Amino acid sequence: MDTLIPPAHYHDEQVFAREQEKIFGVLWSCVGFRRDLACHNDYISRDVGGRSVIVHNFNGELKAFHNVCSHRFNRIHTAPKGNGPLQCGYHGWSFDARGCPTGIPKRPRFDGLTEERLCELSLQPWRVETCGDLVFVSAAGEGPGLRSFLGESFATIERMSAACGPQIDENVMTIRANWKILVENTLESYHVGFIHPTTFSRLSAGEGVFGWQPPHSSWDTPLGPKFLERMKRVMLLFESRPVHLAGYFHQLVFPNLTIASTQGTSFSIQFFEPMGPRETRFSSIVFQTRLGDLSPGIQAAVDAMNQSVKDFNRAVFSEDKDVCEQVQLGVAETAQTGILSDEELRVGDFQRQYMDLIKS
Ligand code: FES
Ligand SMILES: [Fe+2]
Repeated sequence: MDTLIPPAHYHDEQVFAREQEKIFGVLWSCVGFRRDLACHNDYISRDVGGRSVIVHNFNGELKAFHNVCSHRFNRIHTAPKGNGPLQCGYHGWSFDARGCPTGIPKRPRFDGLTEERLCELSLQPWRVETCGDLVFVSAAGEGPGLRSFLGESFATIERMSAACGPQIDENVMTIRANWKILVENTLESYHVGFIHPTTFSRLSAGEGVFGWQPPHSSWDTPLGPKFLERMKRVMLLFESRPVHLAGYFHQLVFPNLTIASTQGTSFSIQFFEPMGPRETRFSSIVFQTRLGDLSPGIQAAVDAMNQSVKDFNRAVFSEDKDVCEQVQLGVAETAQTGILSDEELRVGDFQRQYMDLIKS
């Protein structure tokens, strides 16, 4: 089949603005992990569709707001995560669980700051829901809930994120490529032999099967017998892991989150945050699977495995970064229509879902 997204959509400013509104302004977006919001006053903040959003734990209840103070528009939180009251650092306004400014230094010096006016000065609320350990927000005031948005992938994502144990790595980099080039790159294995000859190729992933949970999709594939043989002894360390996968599994949560696991021993969660039409902030968070208490000897062996998983992921992403930056140069110089093989069916589906939203 032919490609559906015109090359200009990978670099045009107007298309980028339209995406922020029609895609990121409407859909559910993952902004982080529940484990970072375990205690009262824990918070996370992240950019979604060009706007900063905060999720805050108020005595166990999660609330999400636009991260802009209603006094004179300072960012309330600047750190990606932390613990502290929902208080603006500029003049010290603090906000309650409704987003209402309830602590206002030198309040008598304001004229006309009635209770009614205070309510009008509430922070703009966003919707927040969770799936397993993942926290999602939506700027849309109404529309389907998270469970309905994730559809059949909800149970998979819940199970996989709940199986995440200690964090092994956080790899953040800015890539000079449109976010869609990066997402599409993760959706096909056609490039593996050329781009990852000494890294991902070692897994000898087979054809596998595609799963469709529109607008999301997944890929479940067996690993080569040589790789499995090599891993046999190592796998004994992970016998008690909660999620046993036969091979490699990759899930796209449309439009820009991916979750991948090899045999359920580790999980990598990748965010592709659009920073501009030609720039993306990529973050990959890698977790070891949850395991029970381990003896020091076994722990050392698991740590060694974790180190090799970290090195492997970093090497693979660095190879993908390089080729995606070259594709970015290419899309700026052409108006042609490309073509997709049957190994690239998930790219085709992603493009169809994207075009439906952007055209609407
Ligand atoms: S801008 Fe936030 S308190 Fe003044
Ligand atoms: Fe790749």
